[in-house]
Amino acid sequence: MNFRNLILTLLPALALSACHAPQAPEIHVIPQPQQITATGGVFKVAGAPVSYEGVDARTAAQIQNFATRLTTVTGKASLVSETLQDKGFSFRTDASLAPEAYTIDIKPAAVQVAASDFNGFFYALQTLGQMLPPAFYGDAKAKADWVLPCAQVNDAPRFGYRGMHMDPSRHFWSVDEVKKYLDVMALYKLNRLHWHLTDDQGWRVEIKKYPKLTEVGSQRKETIVKKNFNPYVGDGQPYGGFYTQDEIREVVAYAADRGITVIPEIDLPGHMLAALAAYPELGCTGGPYDVWTIWGVSEDVLCVGQEKTFEFLEGVLTEIMDLFPSEYIHIGGDESPKVRWENCPRCQARIRALGLRDGNGHTKEQLLQNYVTARMQEFLGKHGRKIIGWDEILEGELAPGATVMSWRGADGGIQAASRGFDVIMTPNSHFYFDYYQSQERDREPFGIGGYVSLEKVYSFDPYDKLSEEAKPHILGAQANLWTEYIATPEHLEYMLLPRMCALSEVQWCQERDYDRFLASLPHTGEILDALGYTWCKYALGTAGMPGDEHPVRTPEEMEKYRSENHWDW
Ligand code: ACM
Ligand code: ZN
Repeated sequence: MNFRNLILTLLPALALSACHAPQAPEIHVIPQPQQITATGGVFKVAGAPVSYEGVDARTAAQIQNFATRLTTVTGKASLVSETLQDKGFSFRTDASLAPEAYTIDIKPAAVQVAASDFNGFFYALQTLGQMLPPAFYGDAKAKADWVLPCAQVNDAPRFGYRGMHMDPSRHFWSVDEVKKYLDVMALYKLNRLHWHLTDDQGWRVEIKKYPKLTEVGSQRKETIVKKNFNPYVGDGQPYGGFYTQDEIREVVAYAADRGITVIPEIDLPGHMLAALAAYPELGCTGGPYDVWTIWGVSEDVLCVGQEKTFEFLEGVLTEIMDLFPSEYIHIGGDESPKVRWENCPRCQARIRALGLRDGNGHTKEQLLQNYVTARMQEFLGKHGRKIIGWDEILEGELAPGATVMSWRGADGGIQAASRGFDVIMTPNSHFYFDYYQSQERDREPFGIGGYVSLEKVYSFDPYDKLSEEAKPHILGAQANLWTEYIATPEHLEYMLLPRMCALSEVQWCQERDYDRFLASLPHTGEILDALGYTWCKYALGTAGMPGDEHPVRTPEEMEKYRSENHWDW
């Protein structure tokens, strides 16, 4: 529904509420439900009973949490019953609804919710929460006279894959910080966390068979100061951290309770310097290697001319599969330099044995990477898992069944979908949340560069330029938040929000309307404030980290700023 239609459907409610107190509140839900029709009148929330029947234990627990929260914030007990009641909130299974879909019927006497699975009920609860005053999310006891506007909601997601990425390799995020990230993803109905657990700058997941991965590979001796400038200046501060297997299981379970699947990434065969520092015999030169202290890509990659490298990878992936029930395992594949393979007798022998030759625009070393991808795909496939790889895995040959994550713009994704591969759209042009979000760079926390505004995020259509046959291959969309230059939870949240709110509408909504979205932003901002998130208020007229807010410049001031500053992005 667009903004105009929403207003039209709200009109009867507004008219009615003019003569019947209490007034129906405005509806601001992000992502906007597919259909939400205000029907006039209100439902009084305080003390309303909550009932459910025929739902699974996880759903029942979420419904009980909802009732507990209502009781806390209204100060009147919302009693829970496992037999459906006519009055109050009732939750029932409707097997005819699609996975993740739900309906809510709010009438003055009762609120009826239906869904066919856990995620559907969970999303109905998110929608109800957002329809209540933002204080619903806070700790303070609110007044007991809250109402929900009477409305009919029919909702289901546009895409099945609604992802957000997190990079604990460059800066480590504690289990509590990961949980807070998952909480806000759940609020906006995202359902995949892509967890980038390994890279040149740090290995962050305990692997029992290879203990040095975390003993050595999770620690770097220092970090380069700001950019990769010459000469190198380090900060002299040892930096490290990793998740134990118990912590990984805790995060996976916490995410599942919020309808989120955690997809681990073990980035290979490049971005592996932390592993090489731990096990130098896995590299072409044999080392020694140090965990990377600069924000760049190491030329040292896994030596794939030797079988012990594959034994290592299979050992790691076996434990990863044990930790993560996800159908998909991300095996990276991006930015893997070929210079070591070109000069390594073992890798060159492998190239000869495989009969690989330069041709069709691909070098034999690129084809060697295809071989590595295919071996990992086969190994994981034997265990019932599928691979996701960054769009570099498309270069050369790619076996059917691989899913491509398009990051260097959308072209790789368009090409992959046209060739019959499943695709997740994460173009850096629209979904790189490490890029600046306001044009006033000197007033933003220091970052990697680039510029991805809230509106730019909102404007991306994952189906753009795709044929009808190719469209079903688009599983969904995701934003990536690389954290080379992001070292604190506040900065992390600031880069995430509210751009992830815009992302959620790209992922969820069949129809979008940026003006309507902007009109809902103050309400969602109050929710984020109540939950204790830091977020960028640029779209609301101020920017900068908390404590550093400032008015946005006029166009004339902006022009002056542009002409006085050299922009290299
Ligand atoms: C990437 O940004 N290197 C996937
Ligand atoms: Zn080699």
